Amino acid sequence: MGPWPLDPQGPQAREISQLYWIMFVCAIVVLAIVDGGIVYAGIKFRERPGHVAKQFHGHNFLELTWTVIPTIMVVTFSVLSFQKLDFINNTRGGVEMTIQAQGSQWVWTFSYPKEDRFKLSDGTYLQSSEELHIPVGTKVLIQLSAKDVIHSFWVPNIGGKKDAVPGRPTELWIQADNPGTYKGQCYEFCGDGHADMLVTLVAHAKSDYNAWIADALKEANRLNDPATLKGKQTFLSLACVGCHTVKGTTAGGKVGPELTHVAGKKSIAGGVLSPVNEENLTKWISNPPAVKPGTQMPNLGLSQEQVHDIVQWLLTLK
Ligand code: CUA
Repeated sequence: MGPWPLDPQGPQAREISQLYWIMFVCAIVVLAIVDGGIVYAGIKFRERPGHVAKQFHGHNFLELTWTVIPTIMVVTFSVLSFQKLDFINNTRGGVEMTIQAQGSQWVWTFSYPKEDRFKLSDGTYLQSSEELHIPVGTKVLIQLSAKDVIHSFWVPNIGGKKDAVPGRPTELWIQADNPGTYKGQCYEFCGDGHADMLVTLVAHAKSDYNAWIADALKEANRLNDPATLKGKQTFLSLACVGCHTVKGTTAGGKVGPELTHVAGKKSIAGGVLSPVNEENLTKWISNPPAVKPGTQMPNLGLSQEQVHDIVQWLLTLK
């Protein structure tokens, strides 16, 4: 199911949806009684020949009923709301992890804790855009900031919703019960791209979270790897550029497929090799005709090192 607050997947969303259902059921009962009374009175006391309306003034029982019951309901809702708000606004107790989220037009950027396990090879710490990865069953504090205008962080199935305001730090906490992918949406109109300012919250089983960190670090470190830069230079110095285009570089060939976002594709070699990963790119570049007989891409006879460097660079092209 899409983003939907009534399918709670975390303690916060559960509290909110409980209150929603209590109020919704009460509202339905009130609606039935009030509208039922109107319809009943309309039929029973309607004007008809020979029927004379009885005259009276006031009715203590009825007046007490429709004063006392709504009062009890409103007070109950208030007490419940404040209790739940207390729980929802508790961004201090039990927090196990803190992640910074910066809203900008039109993307969320998440910075993971400055802990060794998130450290990159260049000494900075792991960041991700649009996707936020957390372990399940863990109370995660999200510290919000905004770069340009007001944005709002909201993942309905997990609960909570908070504005990110330029120059004024705000925070909320999230927690997911089960592994899964939960969609969120910026909830404050922030310009042209507001509707497309999404967030994908990925909750990992605790045992899988470290594996995700390792993958993410590997991915991020690739950009800092000297091999990546060397791979780019190698690519641009070889015959590759005669056939392939990579926007932003001098490679402008039109014969072969464009490679500007090759690492983001589903397959290479016209669909023969999938997914696009280190193993398949290496296989392909090392000897294309061996993978796809008759292909126009020749075997350039590259050294293993050249292939490795080029692959490292291609994998950064998303
Ligand atoms: Cu950011 Cu709407």
